Formats: sequence, C-alpha cells, structure tokens
Amino acid sequence: MDVSSDITSSPEPGAPIGPAGLRIEEAGLEVHELLFTLNMTIFKEPRIINTFDRSDLMILLAWMDEEPVGFKIGYRENRFTFYSAKGGVLATHRRRGVARALLHEMMARARRRGYARFAFDTFPNMHPGMTILGLLEGFRVMKADYNPAYRDYRLRFEKKL
Ligand SMILES: CC(C)(COP(=O)(O)OP(=O)(O)OC[C@H]1O[C@@H](n2cnc3c(N)ncnc32)[C@H](O)[C@@H]1OP(=O)(O)O)[C@@H](O)C(=O)NCCC(=O)NCCS
Repeated sequence: MDVSSDITSSPEPGAPIGPAGLRIEEAGLEVHELLFTLNMTIFKEPRIINTFDRSDLMILLAWMDEEPVGFKIGYRENRFTFYSAKGGVLATHRRRGVARALLHEMMARARRRGYARFAFDTFPNMHPGMTILGLLEGFRVMKADYNPAYRDYRLRFEKKL
C-alpha cells in the first residue's frame, strides 16, 4: 500500500507553483559567492556541498522580486537517479511555496535530462520541513541511518520521475 498517497497534497498538474513574484533560474558556478552567502545564512556553515566536480551539476536559484531567497543543488548519482544534494530558503521567505517550486523545477529538469528517479537525503530532527514536503510530494523513505558527522539520523527519500 502506498501510505504516502494518504497525505499527498501536491498541487494539480499544470497549476502554477510558488508565490507571485517568484522566479527560478538555472545558474552556473559563477554564482558561487551568492550560493555561499545563502548557504551560510540558512545553514550557518561554510560548506555548501563536498564538491562541485559532479556530472550533470544543476544549480537552481530562487528570486523573489529580484531578491535571492533560496537555492537547490543537484547532480547525477547514477544513470537512473538524479540526486538533490542541498537546498534551502531564507527564513524570511518560508512557507510561501518556494521550496516546493524549487523541487518541482529540479524534478522537471532531471526528467528532461532522462533520469528515471529523484532522490534526496535529509535530517528530520534538524530540518523537519523537507521531510514533510517530501512526504506530501509522494516521496518514499528508502533508507534511514545515523550520521556520525552530524550526530543525527538521516532519511533518504526517493520518487519515480
Ligand atoms: C525546508 C525548507 C527548504 C522549506 O522551504 P519553504 O519554502 O518554507 O517550503 P514551502 O513553502 O515550499 O513548503 C511547502 C509545504 O511543505 C510543508 N512544510 C515546509 N516547511 C515546513 C515546516 N517547517 N514545518 C511543517 N511543514 C512544512 C508544508 O506543508 C508546506 O506547505 P504549507 O506552507 O502550505 O503548509 C526551509 O524551511 C529551509 O530552508 N529550512 C532549512 C534548511 C533545510 O531544511 N533544507 C533542506 C535540507 S534537506
């Protein structure tokens, strides 16, 4: 039984995603400084992801009325799976649908690049929002483990594209 279907509340297909004034764009590594600032503000850590030297690297930026408010970074995990490595939204702009819009945009782009699955890891105790959003979007938990570096439990979510 697909339990997640009980709580899935993804917007209707074709419905506009995200608040008015939101613009999501794909960027290259030239936005590194901006990513660093967003990442530092959101996660309070200088490390963005371990390495940008990845196949099919995808950097998405979210702008609200021309102000950068969020980001999402993903890359090829293997020939079937696109992996979202990190993302976040400024606290001042949360609960307005920005993360959901970033997720939808990355999934659509990954699908167009030929990937069949989409995956992300998250720490539900530290950042519950992404777990809730993942379940609402029909993702399933495929793995759970303890991460000694963060001293916390980590969930891996996956969804078919
Ligand atoms: C998690 C995060 C990205 C969510 O960003 P956001 O733009 O606020 O998310 P959205 O507005 O798109 O949320 C869509 C839905 O997900 C759920 N949701 C998101 N954040 C939630 C939270 N903190 N608590 C409960 N539900 C939440 C809600 O159902 C929400 O819809 P609603 O506001 O209509 O109820 C943001 O809180 C964040 O950056 N947190 C810190 C970093 C982080 O956790 N990054 C992800 C690590 S994997």
